[in-house]
Amino acid sequence: LIYLDHNATTPLDPEVRVEMDRCLDGSLGNPSSLHSAGQAARRLIDRARERVARLIGAQPDEILFCSGGTEANNLAIAGTLGARPAHLITTAVEHQAVLNPCRHLEQSGAALTVLPVDGEGLLDPAAVGSALRPATRLVSVMLANNDVGTLQPVAAVATQTRARGVLLHSDAAQAAGKIRIDVAALGVDLLSIAGHKLHGPQGSGALYVRRGTRLDPLLFGGHQERGLRPGTESVAAITGLGKACELAAARLAEDARRLAALRNAFEEGVLARIAGAAVNSSHAPRLPNTSSVSFEGLDGEALAINLDLLEVAVSTGAACSTATREPSHVLLAMGRTPEQARSSIRVSFGRGNTAEQAARAVDRVEQAVQLMRRGAA
Ligand SMILES: Cc1ncc(COP(=O)(O)O)c(C=O)c1O
Repeated sequence: LIYLDHNATTPLDPEVRVEMDRCLDGSLGNPSSLHSAGQAARRLIDRARERVARLIGAQPDEILFCSGGTEANNLAIAGTLGARPAHLITTAVEHQAVLNPCRHLEQSGAALTVLPVDGEGLLDPAAVGSALRPATRLVSVMLANNDVGTLQPVAAVATQTRARGVLLHSDAAQAAGKIRIDVAALGVDLLSIAGHKLHGPQGSGALYVRRGTRLDPLLFGGHQERGLRPGTESVAAITGLGKACELAAARLAEDARRLAALRNAFEEGVLARIAGAAVNSSHAPRLPNTSSVSFEGLDGEALAINLDLLEVAVSTGAACSTATREPSHVLLAMGRTPEQARSSIRVSFGRGNTAEQAARAVDRVEQAVQLMRRGAA
């Protein structure tokens, strides 16, 4: 199988697995226990916190561990809104894990503004400035889009929010490990990371919370994670996330260069050989690994299924939206018609892919498209 769906999830890095395995040998206690078995677990969590912080230029005490990107986003959004009626702003191309908590809060009485994007999927930072109100508490703008890879101008948005004393959250689930992140340069107050998008374990994640940012917990229980995310920590998952962040930091430049070369070779091959193919967001700054391609007149889902039969794994967009069979809300927000949006597949490269696989993927896409077009003729 040629696995080209790394934006859905990435294989666990073998070095991550080694460190996680050591956590599962039965020698570790509860990290809150005073005895040596507990303290050994605590030290692993401390080390992981330092590694996660280092990847994004944060301090260790600004990192909260949680179960993944969805929980980090929910905590950032609902945890900063507070009890008073408030206004929040987000964009039309966010992942469901941002849009749905925002909509939920709207149903509970908050005011919500969902800003549009242009044809490349980019937000105009000036639009954030115009949308800010005295009651605005939070702006949430993703760093990198999961469907098309567009990088949003988060630092420029921060200039607007800072000037008005409004908190800024960024969902960096797809960005972390693929592009350099420096929370100070970005100017964000909160930033979400998902372990399984950077060759770490599923069910691991972190929320960066700038020192001094007021955050309320969503869960109530013990004192873990300063009471902001109570519950006994998953030492193995946290250790795996920490190791994945350490590896990502060490390999970032090399991975990005290599993945961009694979992605570009794939796109050049597809565009040269398949009539009616078009790359979405190709003129925007975007992730090095992500390619969203539309094939005129074809059904993207059928194409993805045909490619699976040819042993190439791609997707039609966010894995969690696949079950709904709705066209990508990201492509619709970019002005594509439902038919155009339905004609797209998402190809996302990762650390294990080779140039030979990228070339073979072009052959298989061409083969599948030809088969489908012949079948339809
Ligand atoms: C941009 C983005 N945010 C959030 C998530 C959710 O992360 P998780 O699956 O760790 O809950 C994902 C992936 O599914 C994503 O792509």
